[in-house]
Amino acid sequence: MSEKPWGGRFESPTDEFVEAFNASIDVDARMYAEDIAGSKAHAKMLCQQGVLSQQDLNAILRGLDDVLGEIESGEFEFTVALEDVHMNIESRLTAKIGDAGKRLHTARSRNDQVATDTRLYLRRRTDAMVVRMRHLQTVLVTLAEQHANTIMPGFTHLQTAQPVTLGHHMLAYVEMFERDAGRFIDARQRMNQCPLGSAALAGTTFPIDRHMTAAALGFDGPTENSLDAVSDRDFIMELLAASAICSVHLSRFSEELILWMSAQFGFIDLPDAFCTGSSIMPQKKNPDMPELVRGKSGRIIGGLVAILTTVKGLPLAYNKDMQEDKTAVFDALDNLEGCLRVFGDMLPGMKVNEAVLHKAASSGFSTATDLADALVRAGIPFRDAHEIVGKSVAYCIREEIELHTMDESACAAIDARLDVDMVRALSVETCVAARDHIGGTAPNQVLLQVELWQQRLAKDSRTGAGE
Ligand code: ARG
Repeated sequence: MSEKPWGGRFESPTDEFVEAFNASIDVDARMYAEDIAGSKAHAKMLCQQGVLSQQDLNAILRGLDDVLGEIESGEFEFTVALEDVHMNIESRLTAKIGDAGKRLHTARSRNDQVATDTRLYLRRRTDAMVVRMRHLQTVLVTLAEQHANTIMPGFTHLQTAQPVTLGHHMLAYVEMFERDAGRFIDARQRMNQCPLGSAALAGTTFPIDRHMTAAALGFDGPTENSLDAVSDRDFIMELLAASAICSVHLSRFSEELILWMSAQFGFIDLPDAFCTGSSIMPQKKNPDMPELVRGKSGRIIGGLVAILTTVKGLPLAYNKDMQEDKTAVFDALDNLEGCLRVFGDMLPGMKVNEAVLHKAASSGFSTATDLADALVRAGIPFRDAHEIVGKSVAYCIREEIELHTMDESACAAIDARLDVDMVRALSVETCVAARDHIGGTAPNQVLLQVELWQQRLAKDSRTGAGE
């Protein structure tokens, strides 16, 4: 008999290069635990249904445990001749236990097998990803609490806009990672259906119990259309989309940290352990980690484009093209998890130059909107107020002074309605404190939000795993 489990109808061997090119073992070997768990559930079900004898089942379960042991101790030799994780494991099982091993593939195909293994594996990775996100959120909430009163410039168009607090800025990312975690949890829920029993594409002639295998593997239930179950890869698309979005959030955050650490901003310093130097310029300390995280978003987005493009022209049901699905999603998850880990470890060590932030917040006429608001409160229409403050800013630029240092005669010269007391009352502290409503940047509000987040993050580990 041929060495290949499918070799019966072949007359000549696989081309040597094709054998290696066709193999996916380098990529899918990491799903070995899920493959073995799936096989055990399948075998137990076959035995319960009278398709497999108790004796064969015992041999299979023992044999699979032995194979698992071999893999985990590093003894197991995966080979490209056996193409993928499924055939490597099955073939080793058969070498150990003989005919019982050959009976395991009854009522099963690699098509439902790979769909099952991949869902199981990605479910585990999804849970781990959500835990990483929760950790990063916790780190950010702590920073927000420490910096609820730290005033910094808020930007639009990267031009000074209005003062905000650093705590508020940190909480903006907590919101983003909350939605990111939600996307992973959503995707997990949709993917948690068991394809086992769909076999190659149409189901099987054996009297299988699909509820039993689904329950044994912790799925919510069996998939309900065999053609869809073996050819659907939208759970991978969803995870890649969620990963791409999260990586874009991390990339924006990275960009800010990189800017903030530059000599020109001087807002922060990142810990040495997360930076590197230059081999030629002795003075350099480069923010490599945020730069790399910003860069990783490119390949993660690439993974999303890859899976969408791979699947878009495929007829039902399984096609070999689909073997390319795992490379993209594994790479994306590995890298995203790394990014989240680096940020969670790096940010607690971030040094914040509060005096520099305060000075930056106080320049660039960041209080101009508040002066206009004060004029409106004195009964002046907003458009007039806007014009008056605009003229004041132009005056200050010419005189190289700040709004709050304008004197009485300057105010009167600009507009009779411009009251010098209003101008003198301007301060970044007042600006920030005045935005005291849900979603506003006032230290009060930041502290309220911090408390809310601390409760949410403590209450549930919210992995979506439903444990
Ligand atoms: N290694 C394959 C994959 O990842 C497993 C499924 C193979 N099925 C098949 N009919 N050739 O997609």
